[in-house]
Amino acid sequence: PRTIFSGIQPTGIPHLGNYLGALSNWVKIQNENPQDRVIFSVVGWHALTLPQNPKELVASRRDMLAVLLAIGIDPKRSILFHQDANAMHTELAWILSCITPTGKLRRMTSWKARLAESRNANDESEVDESMLNAGLLTYPVLQAADILLYRATHVPVGEDQRQHLELSRDIADTFNRTFKGSSRMFPLPTALITPSKRILSLKDPSAKMSKSAADPASRILLTDSAAQIAAKVRAAVTDSITTGVTYDPSARPGTSNLLTILAACVDEDVHDVAARCAGMNHGELKAEVASAVEALVTGPRAEFERIRGDVGYLDQVAQEGAAAAYELSAQTMVQVRARVGLN
Ligand code: TYM
Repeated sequence: PRTIFSGIQPTGIPHLGNYLGALSNWVKIQNENPQDRVIFSVVGWHALTLPQNPKELVASRRDMLAVLLAIGIDPKRSILFHQDANAMHTELAWILSCITPTGKLRRMTSWKARLAESRNANDESEVDESMLNAGLLTYPVLQAADILLYRATHVPVGEDQRQHLELSRDIADTFNRTFKGSSRMFPLPTALITPSKRILSLKDPSAKMSKSAADPASRILLTDSAAQIAAKVRAAVTDSITTGVTYDPSARPGTSNLLTILAACVDEDVHDVAARCAGMNHGELKAEVASAVEALVTGPRAEFERIRGDVGYLDQVAQEGAAAAYELSAQTMVQVRARVGLN
């Protein structure tokens, strides 16, 4: 049987990219594979790589747990916990960082993007990487530790995490080769990339939909109302081709993104959906997309509002999840410590 692990940062309510690109797949995997061990984590330590308001982080951390329950993660079937409640994540991250060359971390596109951002924000020339915090560089090692701590075999994520997953495999392999008797210590984790692996910004279809983009109209949140969803979809950037809808991601990225979203919402192949919508204009397509998104989120949205108020239940889920995570990871760390010579 497989061990599935994935995580999400508690930086605000998830958007449609998180949901269609990852979270909906978590629920599917949980429900369709009762024989698998399934572990999902809210990764608070990763959130600290960017400045956070501590008061808001407390709320976001709890809200993220409520969202995961609201979309159908079932704590009876899955281990659901806060990464930061289990200090073995950082212990393993330290050990792994000592066998990971910094050159590999500097090649991560997420690091390069941070570097480019800070150059832009600081007028190009002055900034070099010495201004960025070390956590931004070592972030993928912590992610590898999250996965390897549970000896996970499969990791459901969106396309933007593919490179981090490759690094995790690499680090697992290095550990297995470096320490005597460790050749089977860590399985090399496989990425399970969701079919709707990359949902784009509604305002700039050259970028992925993201939590950090300045324009809130570029993303749909799982808690948006029907009216907000309709307004954001109506204002989505498409193209000036007026006759008919086609799926052509390179020539028509905005229109194709709407088709990707629609296909994911109704759980159909995007080409079938495109064929069905071929005779529509952009206005008609947008109306179809808005109602499909609304139909998808209406249940989770109501459930979220109900669960988020039940602080006692949320605390109980967090506590039980942490205990289960702790028990599994303790077994790994006994072996890791022994192999590196720290038992
Ligand atoms: P995070 O919190 O940025 O995103 C959570 C999940 O959402 C997916 N995703 C998208 N998928 C499609 N289109 C988009 N526009 C889009 N935006 C986000 C991401 O691919 C991800 O699956 N480093 C990770 C969190 C993490 C993790 C882990 C994941 C920490 N440790 C261990 C897996 C295993 C992150 O920042 O995801």
